[in-house]
Amino acid sequence: MTLKITIVLALLHSIVALASDPDPVMDFCILNSGSAFSCKNSSAATVEDFTYSGIKLPGNFKQTGFSSKAVNPSVFPGLNTLGMSFVRADFDTGGVNVPHFHPRATEIAFVLEGKVYSGFVDTNNKIFAKVIEKGEVMVFPRGLVHFQMNVGDKPATILGSFDSQNPGLMRLPNTIYGSGIKEELLEKAFGLSSKEISKLRKRFSPAS
Ligand SMILES: *[C@@H]1O[C@H](CO)[C@@H](O)[C@H](O)[C@H]1NC(C)=O
Repeated sequence: MTLKITIVLALLHSIVALASDPDPVMDFCILNSGSAFSCKNSSAATVEDFTYSGIKLPGNFKQTGFSSKAVNPSVFPGLNTLGMSFVRADFDTGGVNVPHFHPRATEIAFVLEGKVYSGFVDTNNKIFAKVIEKGEVMVFPRGLVHFQMNVGDKPATILGSFDSQNPGLMRLPNTIYGSGIKEELLEKAFGLSSKEISKLRKRFSPAS
């Protein structure tokens, strides 16, 4: 019995240990500009290294009436090694954040302004979705496909926080139609004609 418990505990421990960025070994490690792997000399750090003003304003809306500004170590070097990152996302009326997932992070999204239909799908294809409003939050578990759409009559803004400094982002339409997967495979997988696949490829290829 004790052996079983030990094995279960060991497994649980390894799951917990793998479920986050590595523990930092210093107070902070502000990325040196121009080098992805070295830290700025900590005696040269100032409060400016720990603040970021780049998300005061929304970005420009793209095709789906959506814009997002990631706050990660590449724009905010002071975040490096701290195991977190952030995003500001804005939605035009009717705007859509297409189904996507983050392979390395759970996300909590807070509605700063507006009404957002918001949801995710689990590995049994069960959907969890509803409209959340200003002041409410929703959590998207790590690695699960999620999506949002502004269903209010004004622009909406959400703020998202991630438990990884590098959550990764895979937008399904781009992953599937914009990555160069052989057309014949896509036709068979989705039951679409060559013409339909070409149209989707054009729309979601990286160049467009
Ligand atoms: C960091 O800066 C301090 C003060 O300028 C200096 O004494 C120290 O040698 C520097 N450390 C490194 C690793 O460069």
